[in-house]
Amino acid sequence: MDIVIRRAEPRDYESIWRTFQDEGVYSGTLQTPFVSQERWMKILSEGADSNYILLACCGDEVLGHGGLHPIGKAARRAHAMGLGLVVRDAWQGKGVGNALMAALVDLADNWLPVIRLELTVYTDNERAIALYRKFGFEMEGTHRCYALRAGRYIDAYAMARLKSKPVAV
Ligand SMILES: CC(C)(COP(=O)(O)OP(=O)(O)OC[C@H]1O[C@@H](n2cnc3c(N)ncnc32)[C@H](O)[C@@H]1OP(=O)(O)O)[C@@H](O)C(=O)NCCC(=O)NCCS
Repeated sequence: MDIVIRRAEPRDYESIWRTFQDEGVYSGTLQTPFVSQERWMKILSEGADSNYILLACCGDEVLGHGGLHPIGKAARRAHAMGLGLVVRDAWQGKGVGNALMAALVDLADNWLPVIRLELTVYTDNERAIALYRKFGFEMEGTHRCYALRAGRYIDAYAMARLKSKPVAV
């Protein structure tokens, strides 16, 4: 399967909305069922300069997406970005997450002045944890009862990855 990674454009809101229709996708994130198309329309059109949302595509089909997002507005945290990643239920376990992570980490390491990438992941999400570790993320702690999922409060790990030393010419 040829996976092409490209930047999400405002017109892609429907594909992203469709991805979040999958139960495995919204369950693994902080999204709720009944995701709003309008919300994604706004994020893609208004946040284009600050959010780097990349799509993994096979032909015309969008298989999943991942993003780097600013963390608040504090200048002293400008070196950090949040990372999010989702792959449609039918395409999980086929290397799509790997391809998106490689592109996001390359963007952060080589093209953006970002030193720290951070994320949260539910403690039972073994596939995601394995993928994040593979790309250099380390555990920093556990958020207890972090989020409500299908009627139960579940824990999440805080994971982060620090860029190795800056390379001077
Ligand atoms: C987590 C997620 C993004 C991973 O993407 P993916 O396309 O399914 O993952 P890949 O096929 O690229 O595989 C990633 C790695 O996990 C490993 N893996 C797969 N299944 C696994 C499992 N059950 N347990 C542990 N590791 C597993 C694979 O071996 C692979 O590593 P490798 O390339 O060294 O072999 C995807 O499954 C997903 O979107 N899940 C639902 C939403 C979600 O949980 N998002 C993450 C929120 S923090």
